[in-house]
Amino acid sequence: MALKFISAEEAATYVKHGDNIGFSGFTAAGSPKVVAQEIAKIAEAEHEKGNPFKLGLFTGASSGDTLDGALSRANAVRFRTPYQSNKDLRAAINSHESHYFDYHLSQLAQDMRYGFLGKVNVAIIEAADVSEEGEIVLTSAVGISPTVCQLADIIIIELNKNQPKELRGFHDIYLPLDPPHRREIPIYKPSDRVGSPVVKVDPKKIVGVVETNLTDNVSPFSPLDETTLKLGENTANFLAAELKAGRIPKEFLPIQSGVGNIANAVLFGLGHNPEIPAFEMYTEVIQDAVVELIKNGQCKFASGCSLTLSDPVMKEVYENLEFYRDKFVLRNQEITNNPEVVRRLGLITINTALEADIFGNINSTHVVGTKMMNGIGGSGDFTRNAYMSIFVTPSIAKGGAISSFVPMAAHVDHNEHSVKIIITENGVADLRGKSPIQRAHEIIENCVHPQYQQLLWDYLELGQKGHTPQNLMACMAFHTQFTKTGDMRTVDWNEFI
Ligand code: COA
Repeated sequence: MALKFISAEEAATYVKHGDNIGFSGFTAAGSPKVVAQEIAKIAEAEHEKGNPFKLGLFTGASSGDTLDGALSRANAVRFRTPYQSNKDLRAAINSHESHYFDYHLSQLAQDMRYGFLGKVNVAIIEAADVSEEGEIVLTSAVGISPTVCQLADIIIIELNKNQPKELRGFHDIYLPLDPPHRREIPIYKPSDRVGSPVVKVDPKKIVGVVETNLTDNVSPFSPLDETTLKLGENTANFLAAELKAGRIPKEFLPIQSGVGNIANAVLFGLGHNPEIPAFEMYTEVIQDAVVELIKNGQCKFASGCSLTLSDPVMKEVYENLEFYRDKFVLRNQEITNNPEVVRRLGLITINTALEADIFGNINSTHVVGTKMMNGIGGSGDFTRNAYMSIFVTPSIAKGGAISSFVPMAAHVDHNEHSVKIIITENGVADLRGKSPIQRAHEIIENCVHPQYQQLLWDYLELGQKGHTPQNLMACMAFHTQFTKTGDMRTVDWNEFI
């Protein structure tokens, strides 16, 4: 069946008010770049006429500004899942203009197939190549594309000429059967390939192909500073010591590393510690630092869901695709983050906390307890099932006005039962085999910023005796004080005595 090439404007007319749309991509990588902007224009025009125009959006994770940004600025987002990091969408979520379901990334595609989240009307998928027989070669990410293509009534392809057709072979698309027919996922090492290099769809569902030529436009990371360098160094030294102590096998174990500036610094630290042997990664996002590690031989293989690379690094990778062909694979997030595979491979998982409490509960998502930052992403998939789950965070934020360590986390994404190690620029808290009171000592002594240590020791004294010594009147004082005065350091425990 011949493919029909259409304009982005025409493609957008297939989308109707009330539709649920599934998008390709994972982060800005592989996210469609032109059709959503045209849909946003339709939404604005309809709103001007006084008509409603809102959509439900399913994506892999965060997306580019041309998607989340454009649609939220047009007030066209009815609901959004599973992860986001766009400032305009964040504002819409926090003001309840858009409803957000913060979902474990490994679970979204299967829950969509189970029918838990409603219908998918339209799939908008970025491709490096597409055939008349319905074979789609995805671009720099896989995300939930295979499921979205399966479920959607119609598919619009954005054929991106900036993405080489030679990407065919870099993807491994594997959709598990749904219960009660599911079998084990036969991945026994990060480089195992178990699926197809392409997404296969019924070609009759492809209503149009829109040609584009745009890069992913991934934002660069903040430069490393004294704090993030020290954080990376502490993480690498800790893992080297674990290896020496025989608590990590001598071959080492695959690494999963989170997203953002801190994760970038940790990878830099691992790459610069001569005691860490060359390792493999079974991770979600392959960011610039991973490419650097692959080039210098420190990372032997990376399995991920996206190549989230700045434009110059992406250019370098695409110009040398043959060098990288046996060095990485891109999988759907249901597989990169799959609890069964994570537990089997024995991952060392390293994710970033926004806030932790002195008993080891982690808040990855809610600023001062109420405002959504980004979302849980894959951190829950990995943490709960890790061989060794590590959280890293600078000990303070906003110049010291915020302590990353509080008496009680104002929102809990990962609880004390799953969190094994916490690392800051000051040191390492090893929580394995420790009771709540022992964990509190370990964290205050090793991780908390000196400006906050005494306040937290005093809080422990204030706590009602019990297995976990909390004072339920005072446990949110850091947060309430910050909301009142803009500085947690001014907490006065006398108010609670
Ligand atoms: N309270 C309020 N704000 C805080 C804070 C706290 N306790 N701790 C940090 N912040 C602020 C920082 O000041 C910074 O603000 P700015 O953007 O205004 O400068 C912002 O949060 C981001 O912090 P940064 O230090 O740059 O970290 P990051 O880029 O590494 O992001 C997370 C940190 C937690 C937001 C990010 O890792 C995330 O979204 N994690 C959840 C998902 C996840 O873990 N995915 C990984 C699975 S693969």
